Amino acid sequence: MTVGSTAQGVAERREPVQVRGEVLARRRVGAYHLVEITAGGIAERFRPGQFVALSVGGPVSELLLRRSFAVYRATPVGAFSGTVQIVVGVSGRGSEWLAGVRPGEPLDIVGPLGTPFRLPTTPTACLLVGGGYGSAPLFSLAEALRARECRVDFLIGAGSQERVFGELEAKRSAGAVAVCTDDGSLGRRGTVADALPDEIERTGAAAVYACGPMAMLRAVGAVAASYGLPCQVAVEESMACGIGVCMTCVLPVIGDDGVTRMTRSCVDGPVFEHDRVRWDDVGTVPADALGATP
Ligand SMILES: Cc1cc2nc3c(=O)[nH]c(=O)nc-3n(C[C@H](O)[C@H](O)[C@H](O)COP(=O)(O)OP(=O)(O)OC[C@H]3O[C@@H](n4cnc5c(N)ncnc54)[C@H](O)[C@@H]3O)c2cc1C
Ligand code: FES
Repeated sequence: MTVGSTAQGVAERREPVQVRGEVLARRRVGAYHLVEITAGGIAERFRPGQFVALSVGGPVSELLLRRSFAVYRATPVGAFSGTVQIVVGVSGRGSEWLAGVRPGEPLDIVGPLGTPFRLPTTPTACLLVGGGYGSAPLFSLAEALRARECRVDFLIGAGSQERVFGELEAKRSAGAVAVCTDDGSLGRRGTVADALPDEIERTGAAAVYACGPMAMLRAVGAVAASYGLPCQVAVEESMACGIGVCMTCVLPVIGDDGVTRMTRSCVDGPVFEHDRVRWDDVGTVPADALGATP
């Protein structure tokens, strides 16, 4: 596969904007909440793989840090001059608050943030692998790939049926769709990494794209590598600022020059080539990383 000529981590980027948005709708989808927000300026700049950072907690919030969410859909034109949709899984106070927003509520939103997925420059068979709400950003990627005449197949999974996101949409739009759950409540029992060898062979994939929990990304990339396939992953590290200032989101990533740098996943990611991330060392500063203190 030939991917865009841009270097790792600096694929086509447009400056983010801060927008005073408004909640248009919220509805339950399985275990998740799909929230649609007016976001003129953000929707127009968005590229698949990027994310937004939301101010949560309301106008008198004690929750100082913004929360990051991958963009599921961005609609640049429409009655509300640009909207984005996000898929929220409740895990703590911020996401719990978001799961309770009502239409008409204001929502401060910054985006689009981070680097997008790089797209093939020639028609390529692509397998999109999503875990839990990590499937959400793969649908806009699928559209961009199809616009380049790429074949798109999906492999999606989660712990259980209600945490699988987008099964029907994938079935409506993709070539082949495989579903798996850890507990066997939907599709094949097991993880997406377990199912990946069969799906690579069945679909003839020449490239893999993945989004989901870090352990899943690591395992999926390892399988793709064993087939000699390029694999881009959208990582989800803790992000306190989302705009490159605080360094909470750093990962050890190998650059084009072979040197490991502690790389900010909010501005130089969240999309990385799988084989550039030093998965064994995530959460540490390896001694050979540039600038590491001995
Ligand atoms: C790029 C990206 C995309 C994401 N996409 C989605 C998505 O599509 N759907 C979804 O449900 N979730 C997504 N998440 C996760 C989402 O941001 C979390 O659900 C959310 O941060 C949890 O917030 P909370 O308030 O519910 O939890 P809480 O536990 O109350 O708060 C977590 C907050 O603390 C911050 N934090 C955690 N550890 C540290 C630390 N060591 N130092 C500083 N700050 C820290 C986090 O960044 C976060 O802002 C994404 C995260 C990232 C980074
Ligand atoms: S989240 Fe602050 S630098 Fe990345």
